[in-house]
Amino acid sequence: MSRIVYVDGAYVPEEDAKVSVFDRGFLFADGVYEVTSVLGGKLIDFDGHAARLERSLSELDMACPVTMDALLEIHRELVRLNALDDGLVYLQVTRGAAGDRDFEFPDADAVPSTIVLFTQAKPGLADSPKAKTGIKVISIPDIRWGRRDIKTVQLLYPAVGKMMAKKDGCDDAWMVEDGQVTEGTSNNAYIVKGRKIVTRHLSNDILHGITRAAVLRFAREAQMEVEERAFTIDEAQAADEAFITSASTFVMPVVEIDGHPLGDGSPGPVATRLREIYLDESRKSAV
Ligand code: PDD
Repeated sequence: MSRIVYVDGAYVPEEDAKVSVFDRGFLFADGVYEVTSVLGGKLIDFDGHAARLERSLSELDMACPVTMDALLEIHRELVRLNALDDGLVYLQVTRGAAGDRDFEFPDADAVPSTIVLFTQAKPGLADSPKAKTGIKVISIPDIRWGRRDIKTVQLLYPAVGKMMAKKDGCDDAWMVEDGQVTEGTSNNAYIVKGRKIVTRHLSNDILHGITRAAVLRFAREAQMEVEERAFTIDEAQAADEAFITSASTFVMPVVEIDGHPLGDGSPGPVATRLREIYLDESRKSAV
């Protein structure tokens, strides 16, 4: 069945949705995005995603074509029109189509931003079988640009990284810079030693995950110790547990790093508990 998507103010069937070939998102990856998960027809952590979108746009001097209130309504309307129960809403804003290919930013008053939203159904999103077995990751060098805190659509290297993992029979890759793990290709990375959770501190080197913020808050509320600092692959391989967080995976246990099993090779108690807490709490506050 064809989806209804949102393009520049209109709800249209996906086959009728059009964006210019001159769009700067297409030509220059000059755009930002957000992914918000939907459980039971409700949006998870919407306010966090909206706030990060505003920040990404402002860091790139890009105008937001809609208010945050309108954005919530568009998300809800797409969920309703597509009868989405479990899945996600993808949102992308680009610097628009100036009519020619030109590196210089066009005048924002003359060239409106492009905004596109669509849904992706993922039945049983919260019951992923991978959450029971855990995932395997490889490490790869982090060769991305230096503003990873901005959620841009420049995702070629993360896509290449996931293909490298797949080729090695693994699920994902953790990226390493100056000997230390930055983050996963599309998620934040954590290790657990004893009851202490370690994850890289916030800076321009990683995306400030919305799931990360919520999970660390819940962990602290549950009296778990949290240390925000960088760690190496050696330290990760010697850890009791590891996990990743993102809007689409919530909290996902990692059971193997570069072929080295963690603990007994099955999901650990801290990751398992945090996943339960995150799903319970975020369902309660879903909108
Ligand atoms: N990825 N780090 C990177 C590089 C990411 O791309 C993402 C999200 C995260 C986690 O952020 P959050 O918890 O706000 O989802 C961390 C999304 C899900 C994606 O690209 O599909």
